[in-house]
Amino acid sequence: MKISVIGCGYLGAVHAASMAKLGHDVVAVDVDPVKIERLAAGDAPFFEPGLPEILAEAIASGRIRFTTDMAEVAGARVHFVAVGTPQGPTGAADLTYVDAAVAGLVPYLSDGEFVVGKSTVPVGTAARLAASVSESVPGATLVWNPEFLREGFAVQDTISPDRLVYGVPSGAAGDAAVAALDEVYATTLADGTPRLVVDLATAELVKVSANAFLATKISFINAMAEIAEVVGADVTALADAIGHDERIGRKFLNAGLGFGGGCLPKDIRAFQARATELGVGESLDFLADVDAINLRRRAHVVTLAQDLLDGAVAGKRVGVLGLAFKPNSDDVRDSPALDIAARLVELGATVSAYDPQANGTAARIRPELTYVDSADAAVRDADLVLVLTEWNEFRTLDPARVAGLVARPVVVDGRNCLDRDAWTAAGFTVRGMGR
Ligand code: UGA
Repeated sequence: MKISVIGCGYLGAVHAASMAKLGHDVVAVDVDPVKIERLAAGDAPFFEPGLPEILAEAIASGRIRFTTDMAEVAGARVHFVAVGTPQGPTGAADLTYVDAAVAGLVPYLSDGEFVVGKSTVPVGTAARLAASVSESVPGATLVWNPEFLREGFAVQDTISPDRLVYGVPSGAAGDAAVAALDEVYATTLADGTPRLVVDLATAELVKVSANAFLATKISFINAMAEIAEVVGADVTALADAIGHDERIGRKFLNAGLGFGGGCLPKDIRAFQARATELGVGESLDFLADVDAINLRRRAHVVTLAQDLLDGAVAGKRVGVLGLAFKPNSDDVRDSPALDIAARLVELGATVSAYDPQANGTAARIRPELTYVDSADAAVRDADLVLVLTEWNEFRTLDPARVAGLVARPVVVDGRNCLDRDAWTAAGFTVRGMGR
């Protein structure tokens, strides 16, 4: 099928390459000429395992084309809108890019074509955009098909997702949209992926409520970590024990520095803002606590660092391992790790930081840190080591070797990812999260 993808950020670039992988003929559009040039040359603008391979395959097969010219989408049957919805100044989502993408697309739309929203939007956005699309092109239909991909697993999550959700209008137009999307995802559906057909508002809500639930699960376990720290209990053992209850489940119960990234933090804030606009703000009051618990984790590590450095970090050397908001990513948007490293610099510490992928992205927004290109260089002569992103490279460090490099053998395990016994045996004072 001829498909267009508007927006070549994280979501759009992965979606476009994945659609080509599924055999479609794809034109991908972005307003940023640098991004388009890189993608056209097969150079993924961010670190995502598997993306370079499917991008190269798509380019070699001739099934993908990157452009800044919206006119090139003409003739595609399905147009995916995959632009960003960043957090605006009030916490509400900024819909400038979504509105601009749909407005830019409409002149090239024809009857029988579908506009398929993938961006995470406040509930009610799809109905508003659907009205404006059908006003301009009565035979075109706007539907919503939210995306659930995780960074680090984005290709896999796009090609083999847990589920497909189609938000469509009722009647013949909705039925035609379902048929078109079934054709787009034919391979995925043939693999047995569940597919749910719902109305537009439900589709929008499915996405934000899934992220709100995941954020709540993380903050729940971090709240337990706060209590465990006071009473001397171990939150990891607690998570294992409650996780055996299938109704609870062990996934997303890793206590640590909490959630960051380009999605969970901004999505829970935008959801609260939207609920307030709708007069049901109270229903999501608990998300303010979820957010507060999450941000307290960062403050907690800064305080812990001060305590471990005899009350003051000024003039001390801190080795930071990890800057990305999670492993297998170079994304530092709202990263707890980068936030903590920057606060320690503000407090006068000399911070040497190393991340296997995120040094470059971090340096662009936090030039005040010192970036080094190995874990060894980061910990050399350190008075304190902080492990802030659970990369495998850090999990498997040899604590005896690290002990030989540092000035003082003290480590904060911000992600509970180290073998505590091995580090203790190597002479380290180890401080975990909620343990
Ligand atoms: C998240 C959702 O998981 C995806 O389903 C969703 O599609 C995506 O947002 C989005 O809206 O686009 P992502 O931001 O890639 O995906 O990251 P997650 O894997 O969800 O991790 C989020 C944060 O939670 C990370 O900082 C991670 O370190 C933290 N986390 C995760 C914990 O602190 N504890 C856990 O147990 C799990």
